[in-house]
Amino acid sequence: MTDNRDTSAALAFHAATKYVALRDASGEVQYAMGTPPTLERTIWQEDLSIEPRPYKVYPNLRPMGLPTELPPTGLPALAALARTGGEPARQTRIPDLSALTRLARLTNGLLHRRAQTQTGRVVEFRTAGGTGARYHLELYFVCGDLPDLSAGVYHYAAADDSLRQLRSGDQREALLKASGSAPGLAEAPVALVLTSTFWRNAWRYKARAYRHTFWDAGTSLANCLAVAAALELPTQVVLGFADGAVNALLGVDGEREAAIAVCAIGRGGGGPAGVGDLPPLEHLTEPLSSAEVTFAAIPRMHAASSLASGEAAAAWRQQPLQRVLTPPRQPPIALSPLDDEVIPRAPIEDVIMARRSTRHYDTERPITFELFSTLLDRSTRGFAADCLADAASPLHDGYLIVNAVEGLAPGLYLHRPLEGSIEPLKIGGTALRAQAAHLAFDQQYAADAHVNSYYLTDLGPVLAHYGNRGYRLAQLEAALFAGRLHLAAHALGLGAVGSTSFDDEVVDFFSPRAAGASFMFVLVFGARRRRG
Ligand SMILES: Cc1cc2nc3c(=O)[nH]c(=O)nc-3n(C[C@H](O)[C@H](O)[C@H](O)COP(=O)(O)O)c2cc1C
Repeated sequence: MTDNRDTSAALAFHAATKYVALRDASGEVQYAMGTPPTLERTIWQEDLSIEPRPYKVYPNLRPMGLPTELPPTGLPALAALARTGGEPARQTRIPDLSALTRLARLTNGLLHRRAQTQTGRVVEFRTAGGTGARYHLELYFVCGDLPDLSAGVYHYAAADDSLRQLRSGDQREALLKASGSAPGLAEAPVALVLTSTFWRNAWRYKARAYRHTFWDAGTSLANCLAVAAALELPTQVVLGFADGAVNALLGVDGEREAAIAVCAIGRGGGGPAGVGDLPPLEHLTEPLSSAEVTFAAIPRMHAASSLASGEAAAAWRQQPLQRVLTPPRQPPIALSPLDDEVIPRAPIEDVIMARRSTRHYDTERPITFELFSTLLDRSTRGFAADCLADAASPLHDGYLIVNAVEGLAPGLYLHRPLEGSIEPLKIGGTALRAQAAHLAFDQQYAADAHVNSYYLTDLGPVLAHYGNRGYRLAQLEAALFAGRLHLAAHALGLGAVGSTSFDDEVVDFFSPRAAGASFMFVLVFGARRRRG
């Protein structure tokens, strides 16, 4: 259970799951995971016969079909992405079944786009990107009575785009209690809960899958928050909750599949009704594979960052960290984002359905400073969360490798989101593009992309404040910002892709400014290469 003074589990997990590139005796570069001298191979994927399937299936529960025709939302995607979810709203905002359908589909549904992998597996792509397309997230709703859906706990199945009722009746009180009365949940008619089934990602990525849990959850939540904003539904991300109680509510075991994040959605319509004891759920689910492998660092880290009770959750979030960015050391350059009147009008549902991971960029022409500015401006306004201070600097710092932006010298910059500027750190330098490719796990797209956006977090103060559970928060927060950046890129007609990296080399590269920080995540973006 998490103890805010003990951060050793998070630091040990982070060190054990770093990616490093080393030269062996023959001069060949080898990739490894860990911190020397304790290193292991990066990828498992050893037994193709037990490759887990990316869907949870309840064979005995009746599926509820969902509406296919949904009304357009209307709000431009870039406006939706810029909302925090915590904007004041006096009106009651109660989602109906079509709103839940849109939220579920666009957070964790199918794109109706398929591809075959080298292992012969057919990948059915999802509306939010995911590490290695090894989709491991499941989505649940806990709701009171809605205009056209009775109160209950529901699972959304991406495979057949349907809801299944796991529990009937209003169970929101159990969630509220587990969260130690998170303010957003007290007034929300609906809570969306994301779980991860670790084995579905760990089959390939071993223990690093636990980082991916929060990368992918943050990426999916970026979709969720933007869709809710477009539906005029307030949101609050809730990361402080008693893990065991939330898992029991959903009927998941907390070891193979565990609750990762909760999002309160909407406001009003009567608070949760009191409930008695919850009987355990015993709905049958189909096995994911004939055998499963546990990578011990995952359950260890998950247990070390768990909260035991609602009281512990309330204490955990009590005083959010107020982070302040250190003053610039070089005169910052003011960003110049596009005004509301001239931003593209495409709504978020169209942007999400058109989003892809872009690995081919136009290296012949730069992107304009206005597009670059708009992307940074719209994707970094923050999000309402139980454990984050409003209007504070993000927990991470946004480091940029600028390869090709009109009017900006190629080099390294630090984004200063609250000031609307970027601070030059190092201009010029040789072989910037080649270095960018290397840092991003030797992937060429990072060299070709116009900008690489790195999310680095100083884990020292974050963990000192939030304990081991702060590690979950740090990973998810960075990924949510990156997910928004990805969507904003598409809304502006650009492309983007998330990436993994060589942890310590990234920090060295951005040092001395980044000294002491840790690599969380990177997203590269730019103008897509035209076909032909
Ligand atoms: C957190 C995250 C990390 C990713 N890392 C990489 C990466 O290192 N290399 C890569 O080629 N793609 C990476 N991707 C892209 C995924 O492979 C991609 O999202 C997935 O295959 C689904 O495809 P789509 O994004 O086009 O829907 C990453 C995506 C996410 C969300």
